[in-house]
Amino acid sequence: MNDKSYTNSFASIYDEVMDNVPYDYWYKYLIDLLDYFNREPEKVIDLACGTGNMTFRFAERQDWDIYGVDISSEMLKIAQKKSGVKNSNVEFIQSDLRDFSPDLKFDLAFSLFDSLNYILNYEDLKQIFKNTYNFLKDDGIFIFDMNTIKRLMGIEPGTMLLKGDDYSCFWEDIIDKENKIWKVKLKIYFGDEKVNFHEEVHKETSYYIKDIIAALKWAGFTEVEVFSAYTFNLAKESDNRVYFVASKGLLKKNNIVINNMVKKFKWFIIKSFIL
Ligand SMILES: C[S@@+](CC[C@H](N)C(=O)[O-])C[C@H]1O[C@@H](n2cnc3c(N)ncnc32)[C@H](O)[C@@H]1O
Repeated sequence: MNDKSYTNSFASIYDEVMDNVPYDYWYKYLIDLLDYFNREPEKVIDLACGTGNMTFRFAERQDWDIYGVDISSEMLKIAQKKSGVKNSNVEFIQSDLRDFSPDLKFDLAFSLFDSLNYILNYEDLKQIFKNTYNFLKDDGIFIFDMNTIKRLMGIEPGTMLLKGDDYSCFWEDIIDKENKIWKVKLKIYFGDEKVNFHEEVHKETSYYIKDIIAALKWAGFTEVEVFSAYTFNLAKESDNRVYFVASKGLLKKNNIVINNMVKKFKWFIIKSFIL
């Protein structure tokens, strides 16, 4: 079994398989976080950008200078192709985040959609935080999401079939509780293939929130806030997905953003009651 993930086969169907992922919603939440912490970044990097689904949303802002980095040349090939179609000026870089140390300095680094759950070793995670700290500007900010241990260990083992016009993808969830690893084995058949299939395995782990904060502090970040996903509430181990915001300088908050979110939520409740 090939232990590599995001090979050509899965990369070629990734966008179709992830068609229902709420990237727009995630993007809005990132913007809310930036507003909340009074940030107007100009130089931005998407860490483990994949096929660039979030990178391109940032690239729509003409005043921002956007980069994306990923270990998988196959995912980046798709990102490059989309970049040509969109006529965007995103610069994509192939690198393992564990060794990534660009000469450039960024205002914002972000990493979404479980990407850091792929880092199976705590020392490697610390190294990535250290690298990120080093390529952020002095007032730079680092935002990333992670699935919690509770979420990964709560996934039910089983299989499902994802079918597209030109492919069938058998997806098998396997839980290794002892090592806190969620494995996904994929078998992908293209066209009429019945015998030949393309196989790859994905592995995600997670860490206790306090250990992730400790790793960020070890890397040098002065302030770290952790939120339950899509809220400004303090994260808990019982959440499924949490967002970390780590800064080199001080985090200054803008409470107007929260007030606006609360107003939107109240209006939603009133509307649901009336309609
Ligand atoms: C679930 S995908 C998310 C991709 C993208 N962030 C998105 O939102 O669609 C995880 C990505 O992490 C990348 N990745 C995993 N380990 C990595 C590493 N050590 N360095 C760089 N990228 C990595 C994979 O190649 C893959 O593109």
